[in-house]
Amino acid sequence: MTTTASDLQVSHDGNLRLHEEAAQYTPGGLHTAIRIIDPPLCIRRARGAYMWDEDDKRYIDYHAAFAPIILGHCHEAVVDRVIDAIRDTDLYGISTTRMELDFSRKIVDHVPSVEQVLVCCTGSEATFHAVRLARAVTERRKIIKFQGCYHGWHDYVLRNVISELQMVNKWDPGSAGMLHEAVENTLVCRFNNLDDVEEAVKGNPDQIAGVILEPIPHNVGCILPKQEFLEGLRKICDREGIVLIFDEVITGFRHAIGGYQSICGVTPEITTMGKAIANGFPIAAIGGKRELMQRFNTRVGGDVFFSGTFNGHASCLAAALATVEILESEPVHEHIFRLGQRMRDGLGEIVERLGYPCTVAGFGSVYTMYFMEERPIENFDDLLANDGALYIRYRQELMKRGVFEIPMNLKRNHLSYSHTDADVDFSLEAAEEALNATFNARAAGEI
Ligand SMILES: Cc1ncc(COP(=O)(O)O)c(C=O)c1O
Repeated sequence: MTTTASDLQVSHDGNLRLHEEAAQYTPGGLHTAIRIIDPPLCIRRARGAYMWDEDDKRYIDYHAAFAPIILGHCHEAVVDRVIDAIRDTDLYGISTTRMELDFSRKIVDHVPSVEQVLVCCTGSEATFHAVRLARAVTERRKIIKFQGCYHGWHDYVLRNVISELQMVNKWDPGSAGMLHEAVENTLVCRFNNLDDVEEAVKGNPDQIAGVILEPIPHNVGCILPKQEFLEGLRKICDREGIVLIFDEVITGFRHAIGGYQSICGVTPEITTMGKAIANGFPIAAIGGKRELMQRFNTRVGGDVFFSGTFNGHASCLAAALATVEILESEPVHEHIFRLGQRMRDGLGEIVERLGYPCTVAGFGSVYTMYFMEERPIENFDDLLANDGALYIRYRQELMKRGVFEIPMNLKRNHLSYSHTDADVDFSLEAAEEALNATFNARAAGEI
């Protein structure tokens, strides 16, 4: 008989009950598709590196809500700042506020290529505005994205993320109902492959408005960019008058306050940011060269529409300012990079000692383990060797042991400022047990 992860739980009743009830009111009981999880897990409360489910079982959280939690859950300084702010201020829908100015100044001060900035609520909004701006300034229609990169849910970019084998680098829209013309105007290239980009540019002369990329494609774990690839993209964009867009929604504040561009030294015209900039509060931003940003119609005379009822809500700005100030004044990046390296080294040592065919990858505070023989990972094609069933089962085994890495294929994990060396030690012990259980299950033909 096949064992499912649901069978493996000691007690999971509270989570199941809540999820079942929610499904009566909401399709699938969830408000975001990629929150589907087997077994269902519903979190009741969280603090620092830990969260507790409906049955009060504790997990060390490395999922970090898909990356925003950089300081730790319900971080006291952030929460206090938000509460203080919203006693006196909320949302007005007119002009600007002191907090909007303070936050914009922080972004401009820190992110090398950003001269002006606008805030919105989600990363998807930021990338939508980035693509529209690129089209407006170039008066061209097409954009280039890379297989495996995710930039949000809108029609301009939702194609070729985690594609099935037969759809890789082919026509692979991410949803029913997408406008054919939008998908058609988004060309897909292989990451780290300049020849692909040159070919797309040559095949569409004077038609490419923008090239959008995650400087490190973390939506499929971690693919490190070759320096010459980033520099090559910069050169192609300069030569062809194409707008280069770095989607730093994950890499942004997580790898450095100045984004990955401050690490690699290659700068785009437009940068999108989100997630970790407010430790879990819903705020995102688009920033770029003044000349381009001046096209937005938040300036009288601008002709690129920009709006959002909730943009700049005081709760989110307070959270963002508190987060940035902590990143500026405390050794957050030093801590999360050190623990990230410890985790990767520890996992590498375990799989080598036990002789399992796994590849540990990551950067800074981000890590993951692919279930495939050690190999260089340059683009999505290289991840096709990953065994998705093992990847998911391993994470389900970790869950049983109180370590939470979301059990979905190709998802990454994140350290926060609240994680400790002891958390990493505990997690490495759990990882060894989970690996043994996973490969035993494979040997027994269960997966
Ligand atoms: C790189 C990247 N860009 C954009 C987005 C979309 O952000 P949001 O989910 O806030 O709309 C995501 C979300 O995962 C992302 O990882």
